[in-house]
Amino acid sequence: MPSIAVLPGDGIGKEVINEGLKVLNFMGEKYSLNLKFEEFDIGAERFLKYGELIPDSILKRLETFDAIYLGAVGDPRVPAGILEHGILLKLRFHFDQYVNLRPIKLLNDRFSPLKKKGVNEINFTVIRENTEGLYAGIGGILKKDTQDEVAIQEMISTRKGVERIIRYAFEYAKNINGKLTLCDKSNVLTYSHGLWLRVFEELKKEYPEVQTDHYYVDAITMKMVRNPEIFDVIVTCNMFGDIITDLGAELQGGMGLAASGNINPNTVSMFEPVHGSAPDIAGKGIANPLAAILAAAMMLEYLGRKDLSDKIEGAIKISIDENLLSKDMGGNLSTGEVGDEIVKILKRG
Ligand code: NAD
Ligand code: IPM
Ligand code: MN
Repeated sequence: MPSIAVLPGDGIGKEVINEGLKVLNFMGEKYSLNLKFEEFDIGAERFLKYGELIPDSILKRLETFDAIYLGAVGDPRVPAGILEHGILLKLRFHFDQYVNLRPIKLLNDRFSPLKKKGVNEINFTVIRENTEGLYAGIGGILKKDTQDEVAIQEMISTRKGVERIIRYAFEYAKNINGKLTLCDKSNVLTYSHGLWLRVFEELKKEYPEVQTDHYYVDAITMKMVRNPEIFDVIVTCNMFGDIITDLGAELQGGMGLAASGNINPNTVSMFEPVHGSAPDIAGKGIANPLAAILAAAMMLEYLGRKDLSDKIEGAIKISIDENLLSKDMGGNLSTGEVGDEIVKILKRG
């Protein structure tokens, strides 16, 4: 009986997770999955009320689940960084979820922002390192609030950390018979990304069957826009992965469609939409739940049901074809109505 910890979080996180659960509950019943859900109220409300982020007791409980399903954290009432570091990054680091898998897959030509690039051209996966780099939280501030202030934010790359993510990416590319592209800035970050490049060159020898190439991060953004068809799998560091996947989200039709998995096959993995809590539209019932529903599909695939994950993606494709969409995608349905339509489509098939 797969057990799933549900952390809806803040803002539209709560709204979109509701719809993901609607779909998961339906699939659970239809295919006798016996899914067991438990919800945890982690986020701005708890922080504002009790000054608490994730209590150790909850962290311990989360260790017992098969997967975590997360909405988003972030609230204008809380200074930037507190919830992000104290909850989201805390979970990624605690569970050592070193792989951040972010598929960039356009589901319908109509939503391509690029002339002449459609579903055949925009279909690749970014594998973002998820526990090191500029996110390691190492650094400090000297002579704060003086004219001589210096702020230091260290970029950490360990051989173990770099090797495991690049190896994961080689395995992933090998399994899909695709090309692996390294995205770095080794021409400037000669220590940190010099290590990435050396490890990439070393592992290439172990995977002679995998075709490879290499772009600096600035140049890759040009290529992602001009020639997205050249990519199958991109492996990159934490910071660059964050940035290029927002660009990727737009290529696939917008933030409302981008899903991700924070993965470590040996601990507990966590699935979430790429977008945040979107305070600008929170509480209006207009958020697009498709990214959260796709994240739920990724979770089912991770739990061994790729067949059901494909069915959900198929249903989303139909909802796009039939324009059963929220406002950000040009439709007029509410968050809840989009979820209802996906369930209706799944009922048909
Ligand atoms: P955001 O992703 O929340 O919003 C960016 C823009 O995209 C906004 O205009 C928003 O309305 C729109 N948008 C995002 N998701 C949408 C959806 N599902 N449907 C329709 N429109 C959508 O990014 P932001 O504004 O930079 O961040 C807001 C807060 O969320 C911040 O506190 C940030 O730190 C946090 N954040 C959290 C996560 C996470 O928990 N995984 C991810 C990103 C940002
Ligand atoms: C994401 C988000 C997070 C990140 C923030 C909120 C910490 O932008 O998941 O892409 O930078 O990883
Ligand atoms: Mn991001």
